[in-house]
Amino acid sequence: MSLAEVTESRRKTSRAKTTPKSKNRKASVRKAKLDIRPASQVLGAEIRGIDQREKQSAVMIAALRDTLCKYSLLLFRDQDITPERHVAFSRRFGKLEHHVLAEYLLPGIPEIYVLSNIRKRGKTIGRAGVGEYWHSDLQYLAKPSLGSIMHALEVPEVGGDTMFANQTAAYEALSDGMKKLLDGLQVVNHFAKARFLSAQVGMVRPFSDDELKKTPPVVHPAVRTHPETGKKALYISPGFALNFVGMTEAESRPILEFIYEHSINLRFIYRHKWRPHDVVFWDNRSLMHYAVQDYDHAKDRRHMQRTTISGGKPI
Ligand code: OGA
Ligand code: MN
Repeated sequence: MSLAEVTESRRKTSRAKTTPKSKNRKASVRKAKLDIRPASQVLGAEIRGIDQREKQSAVMIAALRDTLCKYSLLLFRDQDITPERHVAFSRRFGKLEHHVLAEYLLPGIPEIYVLSNIRKRGKTIGRAGVGEYWHSDLQYLAKPSLGSIMHALEVPEVGGDTMFANQTAAYEALSDGMKKLLDGLQVVNHFAKARFLSAQVGMVRPFSDDELKKTPPVVHPAVRTHPETGKKALYISPGFALNFVGMTEAESRPILEFIYEHSINLRFIYRHKWRPHDVVFWDNRSLMHYAVQDYDHAKDRRHMQRTTISGGKPI
């Protein structure tokens, strides 16, 4: 870093600390009297004292939103909510998606995407064996998701954890040279790539032609700026990334391989061990996640319901 850059970055940091927006942020949390317990050094916070069966005040929603921006993941324990309440709570944070894989939506409530290995009449009642690769939700769409809210209905006694990696921290830990290189790059992302990764688990059918037609390759910046915090985060996942725009796959590969390894350094990770009726709200703009399929799909029941909040085009 040159002296000029150091001065510039200090100026930016001090400006960031005194913007009215960050003052509002603390004020909103104080006003709502949120009980916040950090879940790890690098991301996540448990929020106590909230019952999602009840309608939350606008003050509370604003405080939760600000806390999500600060910690990237909110954990609420013991939320025995109906799908209707789950949807109502989720809607307070934005418009909700209907997932591309329509057969896994809850009948009558298409905002709920079901992940489940429980079998009824010869097939699973939700999508099974999902997400065992690092990714951010809907990264394969032109407008990926802002955040996902997952409610655990049944989880294995042990296993079936979800890992989350903080991509703001991962970006900040890069050298200035690497930051500069990545700042100027864009990535081609494709849903179909995950098909091959998922197929290894042996529980997921291939995508249909129609599903693939709805998900052509899309281009996103390699580094995105969080629209609410202004912070930069890596936005490159092994789940969907094919190559950098203007480079071949062979040319992209060494840089991608470096990023795949760097972005999931243990220092950036929080591993969530689910309890029944945990609700976890994660920020897809600053995190990647990975569902560990270490349990026995034939014996260990795992049943989750997820809403997906719509987001804007990454910039
Ligand atoms: C997801 C996903 C996480 C899990 O729902 O987006 O990747 O632990 N699954 O099931
Ligand atoms: Mn996911």
